[in-house]
Amino acid sequence: MDAVLELRDVHTFIGSFHILKGVSFAMRAGSLTALLGRNGAGKTTTLRTIMGLWPAAQGSIRFLGEELRGRPTHEIAALGIGYVPEHRAIFRGLTVEENLKLAERRRGDLARRAEWIFSLFPDLKAALKKPAGLLSGGQQQMLAIARALVPENRLLLIDEPSEGLAPMLVEHVMAAIHRLREEVPILLVEQNLHAIRHLADHYILMEDGRVVRSGPMAELLGNREWLQRYLGVTA
Ligand SMILES: Nc1ncnc2c1ncn2[C@@H]1O[C@H](COP(=O)(O)OP(=O)(O)OP(=O)(O)O)[C@@H](O)[C@H]1O
Ligand SMILES: [Mg+2]
Repeated sequence: MDAVLELRDVHTFIGSFHILKGVSFAMRAGSLTALLGRNGAGKTTTLRTIMGLWPAAQGSIRFLGEELRGRPTHEIAALGIGYVPEHRAIFRGLTVEENLKLAERRRGDLARRAEWIFSLFPDLKAALKKPAGLLSGGQQQMLAIARALVPENRLLLIDEPSEGLAPMLVEHVMAAIHRLREEVPILLVEQNLHAIRHLADHYILMEDGRVVRSGPMAELLGNREWLQRYLGVTA
């Protein structure tokens, strides 16, 4: 398999708590993979561990052939991984334009990619001079994603983009992610299964700090028993 990202037996401790207990999965190039599981399963911890924001105590994390474990976050990001954390980490007091500018890794990144970014998120172009804190929740989420597109990234990690958004805005954000997936592989954490059923081509299912299943999305969607058991979804 042509893997863009591969975790093998990754263990992460937060304080004295053993949170990731041997996470292993491989994510294909050119795919949108959904990282799923109930609250507290370890999805966010997995993304943070990939980014080096929590240290992995054991195991290997390979990105396009490079070992990430033990490297500082800025180096991991510079290898080409964009991270969109939960709760939209944007600077609310700065304008949309300033937020995008601050996301540059190299001078000129924004100028190079602005046209493409605004084709995905036309709302942002219209709001360039507005303080980010005055945008709607959906627009703030789009700005958070747009920031990850400013530098040239070869993988995006996006954590719960639909969280706290009204259903119409969820659709809007998912439509943008749908267009994005043509350009860059995405590992997407999402609780809202409905929002991603037509979006993800693969799934990785976590339970209690481990990956319990993975495969093509259609396989999961077709299995009522798993949906109920692992996600509490009654279809
Ligand atoms: N900073 C922290 N300190 C202590 N425990 C933590 C911390 N962050 C996460 N945990 C614990 O680690 C476990 C996994 O949390 P994580 O946030 O990775 O889950 P998640 O799958 O992202 O859940 P959610 O769907 O609620 O976002 C949980 O039991 C959580 O309580
Ligand atoms: Mg989480």
